[in-house]
Amino acid sequence: STAHPDVKERTLVAVKPDGVQRRLVGQIIQRFEQRGFKLVGLKMLQVSEDLLSQHYCQLTSKPFYPSLVDYMTSGPVVVMVWEGHNVVQSSRTMVGPTNPAAAPTGTVRGDFSIHVSRNVVHASDSLEGAQREIQLWFQGKDLLNWDCCDQSLTV
Ligand code: TYD
Repeated sequence: STAHPDVKERTLVAVKPDGVQRRLVGQIIQRFEQRGFKLVGLKMLQVSEDLLSQHYCQLTSKPFYPSLVDYMTSGPVVVMVWEGHNVVQSSRTMVGPTNPAAAPTGTVRGDFSIHVSRNVVHASDSLEGAQREIQLWFQGKDLLNWDCCDQSLTV
């Protein structure tokens, strides 16, 4: 068989407007760095309602969707692509459940939030979701492959 390198798993993580306004961007990035994941894309932007309706396409008919739009467009977000072994599932674990009231201490939501309508951070919920969201938020050229000189740090 032909040996070829594993395709690295990637996920989309976003610090929502409340996280930016509360100066939590650095702490959230730090958690993913110290876990060993690799940052391959990062930007800050003001989200449009159009982009949001594509990102949350399964939620647009929910009763909470109008307030979700108000929240997510209330200020800039910081959106990132992280790469590494099992990063989709690990990120969900690190972020915690959707409702921060049910989120364990040690998770981002469990440490920084008490209400579902201000839950600080987004992380893709599946491999397919991650691929869809990464394509929606980033152009391929803005995702960078880079190597680490210390291979013991590579996941
Ligand atoms: P969802 O995709 O279900 O959760 P997650 O962000 O954990 O993947 O919901 C998207 C966002 O919608 C959620 O982060 C916060 C908001 N939301 C509410 O405001 N009220 C709700 O009852 C739910 C389920 C979500």
